[in-house]
Amino acid sequence: MTVLEDSPAWQKLEQYGEDAQHISISDLFERSPKRADDFALTCDGLYFDYAKTSITEKARKSLYALAKAQNIDGAKKAMFAGEHINNTEDRAVLHVALRAPQSAQYMVDGRNVSDDIHATLDAMARLCDDVHSGKWRGHNGQKIDTIVHIGIGGSDLGPYMVCDALKPFVKDGMNIHFVSNVDGAALQNVLQMINAESTLFLIASKSFTTEETLKNATSARQWFLDASKASEDDIAKHFVAMTVNKIAAIDFGIDSDNIFPFGDYVGGRFSLWSSIGLPIALYLGFENFRALLDGAHAMDEHFRSTPIEKNLPIHLALVGIWHRNFCDYETLAILPYAQDLQHFPAYLQQTDMESNGKEIDRYGRALPYGTGPVVFGASGTNGQHAFYQHIHQSKAVTPCEFIAVKAPLSRLNGHHNALLSHVVAQSRALMIGSKDGEALSHPEKYFAGNRPSTTLIIDALTPFALGQVLALYEHKIFVQGHIWGLNSFDQPGVQLGKILAKEIATAIDSAAPHKSSQYPLDPSSARILSYLFEE
Ligand code: F6P
Repeated sequence: MTVLEDSPAWQKLEQYGEDAQHISISDLFERSPKRADDFALTCDGLYFDYAKTSITEKARKSLYALAKAQNIDGAKKAMFAGEHINNTEDRAVLHVALRAPQSAQYMVDGRNVSDDIHATLDAMARLCDDVHSGKWRGHNGQKIDTIVHIGIGGSDLGPYMVCDALKPFVKDGMNIHFVSNVDGAALQNVLQMINAESTLFLIASKSFTTEETLKNATSARQWFLDASKASEDDIAKHFVAMTVNKIAAIDFGIDSDNIFPFGDYVGGRFSLWSSIGLPIALYLGFENFRALLDGAHAMDEHFRSTPIEKNLPIHLALVGIWHRNFCDYETLAILPYAQDLQHFPAYLQQTDMESNGKEIDRYGRALPYGTGPVVFGASGTNGQHAFYQHIHQSKAVTPCEFIAVKAPLSRLNGHHNALLSHVVAQSRALMIGSKDGEALSHPEKYFAGNRPSTTLIIDALTPFALGQVLALYEHKIFVQGHIWGLNSFDQPGVQLGKILAKEIATAIDSAAPHKSSQYPLDPSSARILSYLFEE
């Protein structure tokens, strides 16, 4: 593996990137009549089109060469073999093990972790059966009909997004609520809607030290005791935890039989496949959670064994590298034309931006090139009436990743055709711009277009297909992080914010002056604090 910017492929791509400034994407179709076929891939119910980009045949060859020069095959092998590719935290990165069959061997520090993973999955399946059959009941005998999931970041965004995306598969009319924000309003709003006696609280925290989650869990527990006039012993019927830190969960008061563990080789933003996915299993039924895992596993196998030229995650990653490094685009819009995927952009924001939003490489070298883009998005067609004007005409070009679902999500007549018309129309409009005949006399009506987009089509939004798509994006992020030379699996910037918040909270709670030897309070923050707390 060479220094990235010295590699011949990188240098060629820099030249092609400059050439691309003079390329019209529309013209590429005239130059290569088979471009629409050649710049598309299929993979088990997924169709990916990247023809509406400025990637030429020559540029594509160099992108493949770049992936090879950076030894992407070696990187995949290292991840699947459980090597400590999260070097700053000295950990393996093995969320892929969570969705594999039990017979698969995944070694972490000399131990096959498949049996542990399947023991947890079996325990999750038993809990789902017990809750749905009514064997597990609340402390006064009521059947559980409501789940409240408390967690934040990776312990929230994935399960929240999946439960919403797959709500047509809900089992037995189970109700579900998610609480993440430390703002008490979030929890209060949920508590107002539920019945303590028929609610199961899930406390999700990999570390079991996250302030927001522990505060919400503490308040939820107190509310439960007050609202249902229950005793401490009754808590075991209403609170379970999912965590790596079993001791902290027990100290918090969770019954040790109610703790669903996972390994520290699972990063928070990749943890929905672990016991952190328990709300998904309870809400949709364990069989649908298993189908989600199976879809992800199918994508893992595709990623692991398919050559670069046909490999879907690698293509998605290379298109992103083209846009970020050779076209210098700093943003990326994720645009699902499916209402049930409305939370997908927010989920992907964490997965991508927390992983690859880094300015140094895995050894601390300041990087001379751009890395993870700013990711944002909204479901189509809502986004069209919000920020698309910027996407069509701003000086800052935003590549768009459109996602469409072939099978309708509703039975309402005509809606699906309208929705699909919009997704195709938008990618066309971005590319062709407005070549209004009146352009010369009305220059204000003219805009050039030539804006890149890709389109991913999912045959049907099933648990299996969603699993495929989520793993597709996880591997895209992995490939990009590897090519950029980053550690995609730590988040030091986020950790600093946690330390500073703790120091400030200690000062506020004890009404004592702020103390920190390492990070003294700056005058602006001191002034804001005194304004916030003055009588
Ligand atoms: O946002 C920072 C972070 O560390 C994420 O990586 C993680 O998903 C989240 O906090 C929650 O952490 P935990 O699951 O340990 O409560």
